[in-house]
Amino acid sequence: MIPESFIQELLARVDIVDVVERYITLKKAGANYQACCPFHSEKTPSFTVSQSKQFYHCFGCGAHGSAIGFVMQYSGLGFVEAVEELAGQLGMPVPREVTARSQEKAKQQPLTERMARAARFYKEQLKASPKAIDYLKGRGLTGEIAARYGLGYAPDDWQGLQRVFDDYADPAMVECGLVIENEQGRRYDRFRDRIMFPIQDQRGNVIGFGGRVLGQGEPKYLNSPETPLFHKGEELYGLPQARKEIQQQDMVLVVEGYMDVVGLAQSGVENVVATLGTAATGTNVQRLIRLADRVVFCFDRDAAGDRAARRAMEVSLEHLVDGKSVEILQLDGTQDPDEFVREHGRDAFLQQTRNATRLSDFLVRKLIQESNTRTAEGRAKLVSAAKPLLQKISAPVLRVQITKEIARHAQLSQAELEAQCGLKPLARTRSFGQYAPPPGRARPAPNSLEHTLLLTILRRPERAARLPLELITPDSAEGEALLAVADAVEHAALPGGNLGQVLEHFRGSPHEEIIAALAAQIETEAGDEGEQEAVFTDSIQRLRGRDLRRQIDALNAKERAGGLSPEERRTLAMLLARKSA
Ligand code: UTP
Ligand code: MN
Repeated sequence: MIPESFIQELLARVDIVDVVERYITLKKAGANYQACCPFHSEKTPSFTVSQSKQFYHCFGCGAHGSAIGFVMQYSGLGFVEAVEELAGQLGMPVPREVTARSQEKAKQQPLTERMARAARFYKEQLKASPKAIDYLKGRGLTGEIAARYGLGYAPDDWQGLQRVFDDYADPAMVECGLVIENEQGRRYDRFRDRIMFPIQDQRGNVIGFGGRVLGQGEPKYLNSPETPLFHKGEELYGLPQARKEIQQQDMVLVVEGYMDVVGLAQSGVENVVATLGTAATGTNVQRLIRLADRVVFCFDRDAAGDRAARRAMEVSLEHLVDGKSVEILQLDGTQDPDEFVREHGRDAFLQQTRNATRLSDFLVRKLIQESNTRTAEGRAKLVSAAKPLLQKISAPVLRVQITKEIARHAQLSQAELEAQCGLKPLARTRSFGQYAPPPGRARPAPNSLEHTLLLTILRRPERAARLPLELITPDSAEGEALLAVADAVEHAALPGGNLGQVLEHFRGSPHEEIIAALAAQIETEAGDEGEQEAVFTDSIQRLRGRDLRRQIDALNAKERAGGLSPEERRTLAMLLARKSA
């Protein structure tokens, strides 16, 4: 865990304008900054960044958040990684028990430089190798796409890298996976006479390579080993090149091979990444569903592709959130995506992606295929095969739907199937960006006093100190949030208290959704400060008035029910006098 105080300090030190500008170009517009939204497709800018509030918001698609939220949304990083990223940019050490990670970071710097140098060398070598150029041309690639993906060529030379590394003997060369040392202590290049595919992290640093033989040969692809820089199960090949298109389309295609990514890009399908070597991991899936609402896995139609599809399905079940869609595409025929798009073209390929199978259908279909549901034994088999899969599903709505569907085929009721599979009710998980009140509690009218007060306080959190807390009833999401903000301000948990800080303070709390929703609303409404102050004091007046009415109503009701004590009668008279005053 990263201490909350650090998050607040970080947000006090970063300027969201600088942070956003690292990724996109902003233009000053009045008090705010503007750009075309990086999270949806648009021609006129509706993405604004407020320096005073330390908050970004898009009027078009509703994306919004703090500096940390921006890095998460833009890079598909988790909260902790986004904090590390921002802290790293400011040179602030992240106080955590896992300093092992920061040590690793420090060690990575020189390795990253080595990888970049090697990538430059391989690129140069490609220019000088007609045979490598011919190979790529033969696969339909232009120089433009080769440059976009930084493709290179490792010369057929045991110590080729010695030409650009004076310190070829340095242990770091082995550590970053470029050089291999044999038992006799002799060192040689890992990659020789291969087409080189640099693998980049999300910031564009080269962290590993895949190298393909030209033509036939074993192994067909050689990959960098696991190194301090390169964790195979976490990276997605082609992400930096695909990012923009993924955001524009709100869809990401996941393929199996380097050549599939590059070949699709060559045909104009650019929202494509590949998992590296192995099937999709949980980390991959979590990242993918943060990048886009729709994730389409594309697998070859062979035994290996089937296994990979099944594995992707299982991993996705664990990480899927309601509101996101994971789909599985198996292309018609036996071609892989690269071969398919080369032969049939972009439009035919895109048509195929439209027919991808939703995860839920894929799962049900697989299970049905594997058991004969016409017999009781077959239906029992269906239930036992479904059990471990149903238990994995983390998205509540999805689980109910799939359960219903399987129950139908198993000729059981939903409750019976749930009991068979030991399914316990799932807590509501966060669905992305939507604000919905917790079940069983009505959402107050959008113009309730609590709502208005929360809006004015979010504009200026220090106002919370002036709230008459005893008059606020925690019987709505707004009321509860109001009390929580007041509490945080009172306990100085929100030192400066700009909107970005407030938002991060409540990340992961039950108040997060309502506060985020209102924060976005603030950005869409012009707010004159004097007017806001008037709204705030007026709302407090009305809060008092409402309280008065409630007390009177309660006493009146009691009177009708059985009468009041003399004491209560006096109180009622006093309240009525105050009301008419
Ligand atoms: P494929 O064998 O499907 O190759 O491996 P491909 O992508 O179609 O390659 P081309 O079109 O023949 O050039 C898919 C992925 O599996 C990994 C690589 O990541 C490859 O892109 N792989 C495959 C290896 O790591 N090593 C291998 O020897 C083969
Ligand atoms: Mn291929």
